[in-house]
Amino acid sequence: METSEIRRRFLQYFEDRGHTVVPSAPLPSPDPNLLFNVAGMAQFVPYFVGQQTPPYPRATSVQKCVRTLDIDEVGKTTRHGTFFQMNGNFSFGDYFKEKAIEYAWELVTKPQHEGGYGFDESVLYASVYYEDDEAIDIWKRVAGLPDDRIVRLGMKDNFWSMGIPGPCGPCSEILIDRGPEFGADRDWEAGDRYLEFWNLVFMQNIRGEGGGKEGYPILGELPKKNIDTGLGLERVAYLLQGVDNMYEIDEIYPVIERASELTGRKYGSEHEDDIRFRVVADHVRSALMLIGDGVTPGNEQGGYVLRRLLRRAIRSMRLLGYEDPSLVELLPVSLEQMKKSYPELETDFGRISQVAYAEEEAFRRTLTAGTTIFDVAVRETKASGAHQLEGAKAFQLHDTYGFPIDLTVEMAAEQGLNVDTEGFKSLMKEQRERAKADARAKKAGHADTSGYRELRDKGVTEFTGYQELSTDSQVRGLLREGAVAEFAEQGETVEVVLEKTPFYAESGGQIADEGLIVGDGLRLKVLDVQRPVKGLIVHRVEILEGVLRPGTDVHAQVDHEWRVSACQAHSGTHVVHAALRQVLGPNALQSGSYNKPGYLRLDFAWTSALDPATRSEIEEVANLAVRQDLPVSAQYMTLPEAREWGALALFGETYDEQVRVVEIGGPWSRELCGGTHVKHSSQVGALAVTGESSVGAGVRRIEAFVGMEALHYLGRERALVRLLSENLKTRPEELPAKVADLAERLRTAEKELERMRAAQVLQAGAELASNPRDVFGVQFVGHRAPDGVNGGDLRKLALDVRGRMGNEKPVVVAVLSVNDGKPGVVIALNDTAREWRLKAGDLVRIAAEKLGGRGGGKDDVAQGGGTDPAGADDALSAVEHAIGHQVTG
Ligand code: ALA
Repeated sequence: METSEIRRRFLQYFEDRGHTVVPSAPLPSPDPNLLFNVAGMAQFVPYFVGQQTPPYPRATSVQKCVRTLDIDEVGKTTRHGTFFQMNGNFSFGDYFKEKAIEYAWELVTKPQHEGGYGFDESVLYASVYYEDDEAIDIWKRVAGLPDDRIVRLGMKDNFWSMGIPGPCGPCSEILIDRGPEFGADRDWEAGDRYLEFWNLVFMQNIRGEGGGKEGYPILGELPKKNIDTGLGLERVAYLLQGVDNMYEIDEIYPVIERASELTGRKYGSEHEDDIRFRVVADHVRSALMLIGDGVTPGNEQGGYVLRRLLRRAIRSMRLLGYEDPSLVELLPVSLEQMKKSYPELETDFGRISQVAYAEEEAFRRTLTAGTTIFDVAVRETKASGAHQLEGAKAFQLHDTYGFPIDLTVEMAAEQGLNVDTEGFKSLMKEQRERAKADARAKKAGHADTSGYRELRDKGVTEFTGYQELSTDSQVRGLLREGAVAEFAEQGETVEVVLEKTPFYAESGGQIADEGLIVGDGLRLKVLDVQRPVKGLIVHRVEILEGVLRPGTDVHAQVDHEWRVSACQAHSGTHVVHAALRQVLGPNALQSGSYNKPGYLRLDFAWTSALDPATRSEIEEVANLAVRQDLPVSAQYMTLPEAREWGALALFGETYDEQVRVVEIGGPWSRELCGGTHVKHSSQVGALAVTGESSVGAGVRRIEAFVGMEALHYLGRERALVRLLSENLKTRPEELPAKVADLAERLRTAEKELERMRAAQVLQAGAELASNPRDVFGVQFVGHRAPDGVNGGDLRKLALDVRGRMGNEKPVVVAVLSVNDGKPGVVIALNDTAREWRLKAGDLVRIAAEKLGGRGGGKDDVAQGGGTDPAGADDALSAVEHAIGHQVTG
């Protein structure tokens, strides 16, 4: 049975039994303590803990999950994958244990031709939390399982939580006995023979902080008894497809096959190669899904995980012997499989592949750069007679150049060296500990949201700022450093929550409104506005005057000028986005934005720099749209309706049931957006694009000034042009030609200067040749030329002097100059000097030592240099001394 069919049957089964089918939440986790969603229940946490009323009593979903704790284990065993899908059915205080077990058992054992999975009942087992007699009783009654097919296990196996504080509960799992070839009878621990594939969590408790699967306290009961189940889609797939493990299922194996074609190696013939094949197949799929949900490669958090996945896949292909770009071969294969369940991947593939391919290119450049460093390290190691590359070198390669350790080990082995992996590991550990300490420090700053939740429980803050800029309201409460407080006084900075407010809280790229909150004898200056928990608007204020208390009547007033400019900037952002897509095509999708009065920036998926003509065209299209005075409007609809309409949504955002769509000029620009906007595009005023740059692989950033700021910006440019044309005494339109002409003349003059300087240096030749010193019969010319003579000219001078002095007597010419703060020396000998067994190379080494550097060359001419100009005179006397020593010795 195809994976997509297993998934379809699941949703169908539960939909038929009164469950609302809920789409998967995007992979990035809304919880700041987790990078990605790790279970199907993640998006329902607010319903379990009673923070929000569930809109339906029962739900079912297939959730996209990524677990990366085990990333290094992927492929080594066949049990770890990074991306996986979890089918789940959920009850929010509706049905509980008995129904959950009944449903699961029915779907699992129902014959395939009747829409079930058709597992053979005789090989199925159930595990329960050791003291859950009720569950044992239900398994016997509902499923008819005998005692010896029900096993009681402890907290580690049969008590489930997300690994962080939150909802949790005892659970019960369905296991399948895969037969004696997978392990010993009743060995539950090893996990290969008795494979669990469906976990039913009786979600009824709330847990606190604490490590591991057993080391946390249970804080109490949830308001209601809930059900959360997770059926591992990949597991069921391999059980039903008759293959050995998840890598061999229909959604993954084709990538292994393609990799095998490309590399000419066979999957299943050698363990090491198999690991690499699995890494490739798993990581390519995970990367596809992550980029699909808006994650881009970076150096932090989720972006870093994605980067590692991509790099590990690419490197594994290289270790399998494939040197060409590989994602372009493999990603489309993964797409072909995954689009059956996720058709949006296909429509988005232009963007997804751009991001992935750009990252591969960047990594290939990294490998090239790192390889040079690696080669130097190998040379140095060999030169010192060692056989082991230092741990510090391996760490540097890893840390600076992204070289994975096993790549370093492999490459070193090819050079007959091994690597101090212990040293490497201890440096890695130090780094990890530093990172952990940083993370802890960060978390302490803002993790506790209980104060906000306390105020939120009194109701949602009403936002009036779409209709008006000032609103009569009442203080609901205030917080000092995150804790609810009863009053605050003049001079303090605290957070205030009002019953309703016209102040826009920073979101969707738009920064918070500024303004005042006033009341009887009270004046508060609004410094920032945020929405720290859903439904709650919090103003950070400085108390200019009075005492602030809950219950006080106030008047909240947004600064009018500020808001007008903020609207211009936000509508301007939509205009620029639409212009980008009109000029570059639909792949130029926004991945992030920021706007404040007078300024906007927008990040978008694109791999190459925009040339000036394209930039101008985008600016032109945007300003044309402003001039056309297009109507701007906002309306509410459901997400599917909005998609139908072609409204653009941000990847990775979770949207409510009702979404707000802002359109400018009808279909020209339709975006899901909660921001504030102008009424007509002409109110944006003007847009001036000021820059375009790269902010990461496959992502570019465009920046612009808006409204008055745009005019000011253009005014400044005009003033600059006027100043330049006055200084250069030319008309503005002739400036480019004038500047080019000046630059050309400067280049010619510099060349001429150089030629003259060289001529001058050489002129000294005759004079020097006629005044040698006699060093025990050797004619020695030791000359320090003026500063700034380059190596080439020094050499010319030395050869000129030597030529003038003939061959009758032994001649040694040494000339030296300090150029750009660095001393250089050239020494030339005639044939007779060499007959006297003098060698230019030896003499240059002696000179260079005094200059803090090195040198060498042939016997007749040699060149060297160093870093210490103070040693210049010493260098010449050392040469003279060495000549004497050689001749008399
Ligand atoms: N949330 C449960 C799990 O992930 C079902 O196993």
